[in-house]
Amino acid sequence: MTDDLAGLQAETEAALAAAGDLRALDAVRVATLGKSGRVTALLKGLGAVPAEQRKERGAAVNHLKGVLEAAIESRRVALDAAALEARLAAERLDVSLPPRPFAPTGPESGALHPITRTVEELTAIFGAMGFGVAEGPDIEGDWFNFGALNIPDHHPARQDHDTFYVPAGADGRRPVLRTHTSPVQIRTMLGQEPPIRVIVPGRTWRADHDATHSPMFHQVEGLVIDRGITLAHLKGCLIDFLRAFFDIRDLPVRFRASYFPFTEPSMEVDIGWNRKTGELGKGGDWLEILGSGMVHPRVLANCGIDPREWQGFAFGMGIERITMLKHGIPDLRPFYDSDIRWLRHYGAPVLSPATLAEGV
Ligand code: PHE
Repeated sequence: MTDDLAGLQAETEAALAAAGDLRALDAVRVATLGKSGRVTALLKGLGAVPAEQRKERGAAVNHLKGVLEAAIESRRVALDAAALEARLAAERLDVSLPPRPFAPTGPESGALHPITRTVEELTAIFGAMGFGVAEGPDIEGDWFNFGALNIPDHHPARQDHDTFYVPAGADGRRPVLRTHTSPVQIRTMLGQEPPIRVIVPGRTWRADHDATHSPMFHQVEGLVIDRGITLAHLKGCLIDFLRAFFDIRDLPVRFRASYFPFTEPSMEVDIGWNRKTGELGKGGDWLEILGSGMVHPRVLANCGIDPREWQGFAFGMGIERITMLKHGIPDLRPFYDSDIRWLRHYGAPVLSPATLAEGV
């Protein structure tokens, strides 16, 4: 090979090595093998070569052309592979990412909202007593929220609930944002045969807003339907629950006669506390915690259950309220503010499941 061809080969190979992407590679190819490329020019120039040298020169130039074509192709393959590698690395989805928070403590760790935590605890405690969990819709029919619960039209109890109404449906009745979890009593009794034992944690709505009331809040309902159920079962169940939840073995519990249209008799339940210090369990003062009663025979009949054969009790309480009391949270409003500092302070560690240290 003559010196000029060897030089051209060396220069081209250096340019190929320097070409970092396909565009640069193509520029080298055009400058070498393109219409006005240097090898093309050499081929065109063969006609001017003296006849006795032409054969040898032609063979050398063609050989160089082949060598450079192969070199360009091999560089293209290498660059293609590198580009694919880079794309795979950039688009890589690491499904093995550990769940966050990686450390159970520290500034980056998350926490369970106190409402979530209380629902877990309620589920654990009532679960240990054989209760399942039921749910119902937030937007309820008038009949489920009121009528079936023995609250007819124009009943004064309707005014007690500052109800949010939704525009009327085809039947002319306005659906409501449920004002309590009690409609799920009805749905449960219509949906399954007794015996029944469920709790119903969920959102409820009332047009009310101040330091201790929010238009959206949470309740937990309880419903037991079986044969031979008496007030004694209601009392035993709620005393056990309150002592387990507040973790005070001798928590004083008082049952006070009251009125709800869907229970008869009805009782409000108070626990002992100290009004001045807020301490639960002693102090001689009483604090109302929940409403309860024996399921009204008319409510059973509304659900197709024969009240002569089946009896039951029901109860309902505010989840925020028992959470505030248990953890000494003074104000209701931050529950819904999503303030990370509040959540860190009152939230529960994510990886610590609600357990019953002492059983029920
Ligand atoms: N639904 C009642 C309320 O919201 C509470 C309750 C439930 C009372 C079940 C008795 C039985 O105030």
